[in-house]
Amino acid sequence: MATLGELLRQHTDLSKDDSAHLQQLIGEWGMLADLCFADMMLYLRSHDNTWVVGAQVRPATGQTIYRSDLVDSQANEAEAELLGRAFASGEICEGELHKRNIFDSIHVLAIPVHGEDGPIAVLTREWSSKTSRQPGELERTYLSIFQRIAEMITQGAFPFRGRAADLSAAPRVGDGAIVLDEQAVIRYASPNAVSALHRVGITANVVGQSVSELGFADSPVRQAFERHEPVIEEFDQTVDVTLLVRCLPIIASQVITGGMLLIRDVTEVRRRDRLLLSKDATIREIHHRVKNNLQTISSLLRLQARRLESPEAKAAIQESVRRIRTIALVHETLSRETGEDVAFIEIVRPLLRLVEEGLQSPDRPVRFIVQGDGGRLPATVATPLSVVLTELLQNAVDHGFPEGSAGGSVVVELGGTDDDIEIKVINDGRILDPAFDLNGVTGLGLSIVRTLVTTELNGSILIRAGVAEDFIAAGIEGHRSGDGTVVQLSLPR
Ligand SMILES: Nc1ncnc2c1ncn2[C@@H]1O[C@H](COP(=O)(O)OP(=O)(O)OP(=O)(O)O)[C@@H](O)[C@H]1O
Ligand SMILES: [Mg+2]
Repeated sequence: MATLGELLRQHTDLSKDDSAHLQQLIGEWGMLADLCFADMMLYLRSHDNTWVVGAQVRPATGQTIYRSDLVDSQANEAEAELLGRAFASGEICEGELHKRNIFDSIHVLAIPVHGEDGPIAVLTREWSSKTSRQPGELERTYLSIFQRIAEMITQGAFPFRGRAADLSAAPRVGDGAIVLDEQAVIRYASPNAVSALHRVGITANVVGQSVSELGFADSPVRQAFERHEPVIEEFDQTVDVTLLVRCLPIIASQVITGGMLLIRDVTEVRRRDRLLLSKDATIREIHHRVKNNLQTISSLLRLQARRLESPEAKAAIQESVRRIRTIALVHETLSRETGEDVAFIEIVRPLLRLVEEGLQSPDRPVRFIVQGDGGRLPATVATPLSVVLTELLQNAVDHGFPEGSAGGSVVVELGGTDDDIEIKVINDGRILDPAFDLNGVTGLGLSIVRTLVTTELNGSILIRAGVAEDFIAAGIEGHRSGDGTVVQLSLPR
C-alpha cells in the first residue's frame, strides 16, 4: 500500500511545508474521525486535475461504510465536482452523492485544507444517512467540536504548526473527553471522562465548574490557552492514579473560543512499564552488556600493557585488568540469574579460579578451600564484595606465600546469620608483620578493601595473625610455614 508521502510525490508538487502539514493532519485525524463518528478521506489534487485518495481513516466511535481500502483510488465525477468546489472556494461544502460500489447515497462534507497560501488538499467526512441515528448529547457535542476544528482546518490553524509531538500515546476521544468554553469552564464531560475524574476523587458534577476550581489538570489547560497550542502532560494525580491529559485549544480568527481536554487513565500501563523495567530479562540484559563492556576495557588495557617497557607499569596495568575482570565476572553471573540477587558462591568459585590462574606457581603450590556458601546477596552488595574478596585472596597469596616459601592453603569461610555476613580469608603462610596497622596501609589493594567495606558495605575489617584455633576450625591440617594471617569481614545483610 502506498504511503501518503509516496502519493504526494507521485501526484502533486506540494512544497515540503505543505506536505508536512498534511502528514501532521493525518497524524491527528484519528481524533477527528472519532469526533465526527464517520470515515474520513484525504483527497489530493493530482497533476491531471483528478482527485486521488491520499489517506483514509475509520472512526473508533462509529461504523465505517467502507470495508475496502480506498487509498490511491480516484474520486468519481460527482465527488470530483464537490471536492473541486470546496478547493476553489476555500469553504466547507456538503453534498449527497453515489459511490460506485455503494448502493445507498452517502453524505460527504468536503473541508478544504489550508496550507501556506491557499487550499492544498480536501479532507472529507463521509457517512451514510442510513446509519445515522438520532444523535444524543455526546454526539451533538462532539460534532459541534468537529465543526469548529473543521473551520480551523480551512483557515490553516489546524493541525497546529510545528507541533510534531508523539501522538501515538496521546489520549483519544473514546478514553474520555471534556469540552471547555473560552473561560476554561467545563461544558461537557463524556461518561469515560467522568469515570476518570471519579478515580481521582472528583465526584461532584463538573459541568459549569472551571478546571482550576476542580484542582484538576489546570496546568495543561492554562498553557494551551496561553500559548494557543496543544499541550500534553502526564499526572500522578493521586498516589495510585496516573492520568495522561491533552488539551487542545479551539481557535477562531486567532481567538480562543474553547478547548477540548482528552483524558486517559494510564495507571495500569505505567504500572506494567515499571514492572517490565524491573523485570528479570531487562536486568539480565543490562548485566550482560556491562560485562561485555568491561571485557572490552580489559582487552584494551592488556593491549596497552604489551607496548610498555617498564615492568612496574606492566604490573600495574595487569593489576587493573585483574580488578576489572573480577567485576566483569560478577556481572556475568548476574546476567545468568533471574532476580536482582545472586547466590554468592556462584561468584566466589570463578573468583578463586581467576586468582588461582594468575598466581599459582609450581614451586609453592597453594590450595584453595571454600567453606559455607554465603547465601544470596543483592547485586549492590555482591559487586563490591567480590572486588574486596579478590583483593584479600590476592594478598593471601602474595604476602602469605611469597617467592621462596613452600606454599600452603587459603581458606575462604562464608558464614553469618540472617542479619549479617561474616567472611574470613585465612592463609597459613607467612605471619603478619606485628607492626601491621590497617589504618596506616598505603597499598592500593587494602585501600580499596577498606573503602568498599566501610563506606559501600557499612561493615568492618579485622586483620590479625592467625592462631592455632583458626586453622583447626578451618580444617587446615598440619600447617607448617608459620602462623599465617586471618582477615575477617563482617557486614550487615
Ligand atoms: N594476607 C596477608 N598476609 C600478610 N601480610 C599482608 C596480608 N594482606 C596484606 N598484608 C600486608 O599489607 C600490606 C598492604 O596490602 P595491600 O594489598 O594494600 O598492598 P599490596 O598487596 O602490597 O599491593 P597491591 O596494592 O598491589 O595489592 C601488604 O604489603 C602486606 O604487607
Ligand atoms: Mg594487595
